Amino acid sequence: PKFFYDIKGSELFEKICSLPEYYPTRTEISILEQLQEDLLEYLDESFRLVELGSGSSTKTRLILDIFEKFQSKMEYFPIDISDILAESSEILQSHYENLHITGIIDTYEGGLEFLKNYDTKKNLIIFLGSSYGNFSPENGVQFLKKIHSTMKSGDLFLIGLDLVKDYSILESAYNDSKGVTAAFNLNVLSRINDELDADFDLNNFAHHSVYNEQSQRIEMYLKSLTNQTVVISQSNITIPLRKDELIHTEFSHKFKPSQLNSLFEDIGFEVKHIWCDEKKYFSLTLLSKK
Ligand code: AVJ
Repeated sequence: PKFFYDIKGSELFEKICSLPEYYPTRTEISILEQLQEDLLEYLDESFRLVELGSGSSTKTRLILDIFEKFQSKMEYFPIDISDILAESSEILQSHYENLHITGIIDTYEGGLEFLKNYDTKKNLIIFLGSSYGNFSPENGVQFLKKIHSTMKSGDLFLIGLDLVKDYSILESAYNDSKGVTAAFNLNVLSRINDELDADFDLNNFAHHSVYNEQSQRIEMYLKSLTNQTVVISQSNITIPLRKDELIHTEFSHKFKPSQLNSLFEDIGFEVKHIWCDEKKYFSLTLLSKK
């Protein structure tokens, strides 16, 4: 999924976030607005804010607003795969006079490696939006272990996870009526065309997403609408595709509230607090290193 986020893809994702069907963003924002008071008791002037996959800065601002209450100089350390980080950092910078930003355009792994031996300042690492859901369960655990080993004692980790709910709500969130999610999914083919000199004809593919209840995940695919052959010149690959054959592009895993404690505790985190919205659509969990 990291390949979705070129400039165009990042813009389309921003549009997804404000779609009526896409409940995660506004639900997470509503939880963030409510936990501002609660979070205060865990923080002090010595914390820096580190964000994995910062995207648009609406949610970042809600956290920075808390920091601003007790910090005269705030430090923000966004790690994002997308070049859009430069632009979003500039916008964020213009909103806070006393904010110092050191952005890293890299994978999470690369950014975390950089952070690991950076200094002794305490970090509040935030990983919002349920991007964690993109990982397979095995890779997710690997990733959490990586975060855990990057953290110093005293550091905190706040993670947003989307929750299991009725499949019809989930499926419409990933198949919106305006076709923005479809455009987001198909954009990955344009990107391969542009960057790897390929000849995908976007008219020959359709967005396809289903909720797999057993595996607790949305599965996103691009469906071939005809028998066709695609050539990716730069990689010297020829791909024959049958009509209705699927190209898998994304998993988005959902969690049950009852699964959260063991997910984190098995890795060695201490669960400080779990916040949810009233409908139990989305969760935010605050963790520390035991
Ligand atoms: C950025 C991974 C959280 O899974 O909901 C939105 C990406 N894909 N619509 C998600 C996405 C299609 C999103 N995450």
